[in-house]
Amino acid sequence: VSDDLSVVEDAGDLYYRGDLWGAFPTARQEIDRRVSGRPDGHWIDRLRQATDGRTFRRALVLNCGSGALERRLLAEGVVEAAVGIDYSDDLLDQARAAAADPALADELSYRQMDVNSLAFADEDVDLVVNQAACHHVRYLDRVLRACAELLPDDGWMVSWDYVGPHRHQWPWDQWEAAHLLNRTLPEGLRNELVYSHLPTMLAEDPTEGIHSELFRETSDRYFDVQDEQPIGGALAYLVLTRNRALLEAPADVRDPLVDEVMAADQRWLDHHPGRTLFTFLATTPKQGDTAPSADQCTHWTEEEELREEAAEHLGGEYAERTVLQDLTRELSDARLGSEHRLASIHQLQQELTDAQARIEQLEGDQAASAMPWASALRRAAKKVPGAQRAAKAVRGAARSSD
Ligand SMILES: C[S@@+](CC[C@H](N)C(=O)[O-])C[C@H]1O[C@@H](n2cnc3c(N)ncnc32)[C@H](O)[C@@H]1O
Repeated sequence: VSDDLSVVEDAGDLYYRGDLWGAFPTARQEIDRRVSGRPDGHWIDRLRQATDGRTFRRALVLNCGSGALERRLLAEGVVEAAVGIDYSDDLLDQARAAAADPALADELSYRQMDVNSLAFADEDVDLVVNQAACHHVRYLDRVLRACAELLPDDGWMVSWDYVGPHRHQWPWDQWEAAHLLNRTLPEGLRNELVYSHLPTMLAEDPTEGIHSELFRETSDRYFDVQDEQPIGGALAYLVLTRNRALLEAPADVRDPLVDEVMAADQRWLDHHPGRTLFTFLATTPKQGDTAPSADQCTHWTEEEELREEAAEHLGGEYAERTVLQDLTRELSDARLGSEHRLASIHQLQQELTDAQARIEQLEGDQAASAMPWASALRRAAKKVPGAQRAAKAVRGAARSSD
C-alpha cells in the first residue's frame, strides 16, 4: 500500500493505454453522440452550446496529463490561453514539448504540482476544466472550493469525468447485469470480467477513482449546474474495457456486437438515471446567498480531514468492502497461496535432484570416506525435508551394496 494517497510517482504509462471502452470506434461514436448529439461531436461542442459560443480568456486545466485537450481548446477558439497543471513530470514534459510549437508557445503554460496543495489558487482564469481529473482528487471539497473561489462571477467550470463507484467497486446488481450482457457475446469475444482487487489498485494507483462518487454532490456545494448530461457506461465500460479479443475482431463482426452492448448500456442508464459512470457537467460558481457560509465550509473541511486521517490508518480504504471485494480477495489470496505452494514444491524437487546428484557423485568417488558421505547426506536431508526419506533409502542401499 502506498503511504501517500494523493499522488502517484512515475505515472507516465498509466493513463494512455488506449484500452478503455472508447477504443471501440462505434462505442466512441455513441459516447460522442450521447454528449453532443452527433457521432462525430465532442463534449467541447456541448460546452460551446451551453456558453453561447463564448471564448474564454484563460483556462486552468486540472491534471492536464500530456496536454492534448488544451491544445484542442485553443485550436477550436474556445480559449485564448491555458495553464495546465499535473503532478507527473513525464506527462508535463510531453505537454510542454507539444506546446513548443511557436504558434502555441505564448498561450500554453504548465506547472507541476499536487492539485491537492492548491498551488494553482493564484491563477487568473475564467474557465476551469476537469477532464478525467477530479476522479483522482483526494481532497475534493478543498479543491472544488478553491476552483469556485478562483473564478470570477461569470466564470465556468466544465467537467467530463468518471463519477461512478469509488475505485471501481461495482455493486452486485451492476456486476451481475454486466456479467449477463457479456455472456450474450460469442464465446471467445467475451471480456474476462475481473473485479478490481483493492490491494492491487492501492499499490498501482491509490488516486484512481479515490472519491469519484462524491464528485457530483461536492460540486453542488460550490457550483450551480447550467448543463448536465449523464453518459452511462455502467455495463458497456465493464464489457468493453480491456476486451482485446473483441477489439481485434474484424469490424463487420465487432461493430454490430458493440452496438448491442451500447444499446443495453443505454437501457440500463434509462432505468438507473443516477448511476452513470461518466458525466458531462457545465457549472458556474454559486454567488451571494446561495454560496455556502463560512461555518458550513469549516464543517466540510473538518469532515474531509477526518476522513483522510482515518483512511491513513485503514491502509487507504474509505468504505466497507463490497461482498464482491471480499470474494475477490479470498480468491486472490487462495491463488497466491497455491502459487507459493507450487513454487515450494518446485524448489524441493530441485533440491532433491541436487542432493541425488551429489550422492551419485559421492558413490562414484572410490576414495570417499564414510564421514563425507554421512555429512553430505545430513546436509541434503536438512535442506530438503522431503529428501530425508530418499537419503535414508539411499544410505540403506549404499550399506547393502558395501
Ligand atoms: C486519467 S489522467 C487524465 C489526464 C488528462 N486530463 C486527459 O484527459 O488526458 C489523470 C491525470 O491526473 C494526474 N494526477 C493524478 N493525481 C494528481 C495530483 N494529486 N495532482 C496533480 N495531478 C494528478 C495524473 O498524472 C494524470 O495526468
